[in-house]
Amino acid sequence: MNDRLWWYVARSSGLVAWVLLAASNLWGLALTTRLSRRFAPRWLLDVHRFLGGLAVAFVGIHLAGIVADTFVHFGLADVLVPLASDWHPWDIAWGVVALYLILAVEVTSLLRHRLPHRVWKAVHGLSFLLFLVATVHVLLAGTDAGDWWALAPVIGVTMAVTFLSVARIAAGPRPARTPAP
Ligand code: HEM
Repeated sequence: MNDRLWWYVARSSGLVAWVLLAASNLWGLALTTRLSRRFAPRWLLDVHRFLGGLAVAFVGIHLAGIVADTFVHFGLADVLVPLASDWHPWDIAWGVVALYLILAVEVTSLLRHRLPHRVWKAVHGLSFLLFLVATVHVLLAGTDAGDWWALAPVIGVTMAVTFLSVARIAAGPRPARTPAP
C-alpha cells in the first residue's frame, strides 16, 4: 500500500471539512435573512444541519488519517490536548481547539430541544469563532498554504463569511420564527 495514503486521507478530509464548515456557516447566515425567513421552505434548514454534521464526520476522518499516518507519530493525547504535539505544536493547537468547538456546536444542536434556548443560541453563536480558529489552523498547517492558488480561495471565502457574520450581528436579535400552520 502507498505509504503516503493516510497523509493524503488526512489532507483531503481536512480540506473537505473546512469547505463544509464554510458552507454550513454561509448557509446558516443566509437562512437568517428577513427574506429567507419569510419565504424559505423548512427543508433548507435541514441542508444547514446536514452540512454541519458532514463537517464533523470529515473532521473524524481527518483525525483518523493523522493518527494512522506514520510520517509523524500522533498519539491520542497529541490530537486531544492543545500543545501536546511535538510537531508544530501551535499550528496543531488551533485544530484541537476547532475540534472542541465543532463538537460543542454539533452536540448542542442535536440536543437543541432538550436545552434552554439561550444555551443553544450562545453555543451556536460560537460557529463563527469555530470557522476562524479552523481557518487559522488550515493556514498554519496546510501543506500548500504558502501558495497563492491555495491562499486566494481561503481568503475569499473567509472574507465572505466574516462580512455576512458582521452584517448578521449588526442586524441585532431577530423575532422568533412563526410556527407553520
Ligand atoms: C475543525 C477541525 C479541523 C479542520 C477543519 C482541519 C482542517 C485541516 C486542513 C484543511 C489542513 C490542511 C491540509 C493540507 O493541505 O495539507 C489540516 C492540516 C493538518 N491538521 Fe487539521 N483540521 C482540524 C482539526 C485538526 C485536529 C484536531 C488536529 C489534531 C492533531 C489536526 C491536525 C492536522 C495536521 C497534523 C495537519 C497537517 C497535515 C499535513 O499536511 O501533514 N487538525 N487540517
